[in-house]
Amino acid sequence: MQHAQKAQSNTEAFDDWVRSGFVALNTALEDLYFDQENRANVAGVGDEVKAQLVAEGWEYIRALLEEGNTDEGFDAGFDLLGNVGLFMGACRRHEVTESSSGAAEPLRDTSALALQLGASLGVAPRFATSHLTTHNRAVRGSYRMFTSLEAEALFLEYNTRAILAYKRAADAIVRVLPMGVSHPVACDLLTTAKQALDDVIRNNAALFDVLDIDRFFYCVRPYYKPYRVGLHEYRGANAGDFAGINEIDVLLGLCQPENLSYSQLLVEKFLFMMPEDQQRLRDCMRRRSLLDQLLDELERSKSEPWFRRVATTFLTLCEAHGEAAKQHHDQLVERFISRPSDSLPEENLTNITASGPPLHVMLSSLEKLRDLRSAADRDDIPSRYLDLSRLRAAVS
Ligand code: HEM
Repeated sequence: MQHAQKAQSNTEAFDDWVRSGFVALNTALEDLYFDQENRANVAGVGDEVKAQLVAEGWEYIRALLEEGNTDEGFDAGFDLLGNVGLFMGACRRHEVTESSSGAAEPLRDTSALALQLGASLGVAPRFATSHLTTHNRAVRGSYRMFTSLEAEALFLEYNTRAILAYKRAADAIVRVLPMGVSHPVACDLLTTAKQALDDVIRNNAALFDVLDIDRFFYCVRPYYKPYRVGLHEYRGANAGDFAGINEIDVLLGLCQPENLSYSQLLVEKFLFMMPEDQQRLRDCMRRRSLLDQLLDELERSKSEPWFRRVATTFLTLCEAHGEAAKQHHDQLVERFISRPSDSLPEENLTNITASGPPLHVMLSSLEKLRDLRSAADRDDIPSRYLDLSRLRAAVS
């Protein structure tokens, strides 16, 4: 029996374009930029291609705006927001602004659609990391990307693997809470979490080796800049916009939600996460950490076999979390962001980071996170160095 072909919806037509024409236009522009002596220059290069990108995207956006909110459920709305966001991220990357000729109306319409979607979904009105990683639906083997460059594919695939591994670790740690640290099976869960963090470490090391520095720095990273939607600018997406890594921070006790700069980071991150992740993180923030639970028991139970077993496993888990954080900062950020930034002309240094602040400010906040996660010997931040040392001494 033959089935009648279903008419393609506006959302599907836009999705098809984002997966084809959009990718081809971005890739053509990247090749033009990359071919210059100053690869960071975008001004005055490929203007016809940029105009084509805006005009084609606008046609789909207009049709979607006219159609209005057809409420096809959370997943469809979130997916559409991703596509709208990818289009806006590309406009930002190619420095198409409302004052560029012919871009004012298209960008206003696009903002209107993004705001409507973001508000109804309870997330920031822009593309987020999950759109490109854990919630990036593949169609016949291909998932959404800005370009068809190998560097982008490697970056996304390795990020996705690391995010999933962090989530596996967080899932295992959360399950200790209802059992308590003295339950014989708590150690199994902490070991599972440690194995997952070892996967993060292996994955980061592989990414470090395979990613092309210049292609990543000049042709991939710029799509993650902050961009304006309506009246406000929203910070760029980064691989950290999921709850798992912070669930691990907080449940292990290495970072504390009552600390001003850490809670500031969490608050700013909420709308960049999927609603289910927002819920998980909120829940973790009011739990007593495993480190605090172990310290509560230290004097009474330090000679007990259960305590020695769980504390030892806990310490190796903390070490793995610190190791992955060091790897992120000292290897990935250093090799793919800090070092290539040194050779950038002054005028191209603005907005090099995804979050927006100048590079040295962003680097110093990442450094603090690294030192909290690795419980470094620092007394200017609330590092748990002394507490972990006490625990280590008690079981060694
Ligand atoms: C080439 C690889 C990578 C580079 C160059 C890189 C760089 C960065 C930078 C520069 C930031 C700060 C945000 C900003 O731009 O303002 C950041 C944040 C973050 N990245 Fe990466 N990253 C890479 C891969 C990864 C991977 C594989 C993960 C694992 C999930 C990850 C996890 C995070 C997290 C969690 C944050 C938020 C801050 C934090 O909690 O540490 N990154 N990254």
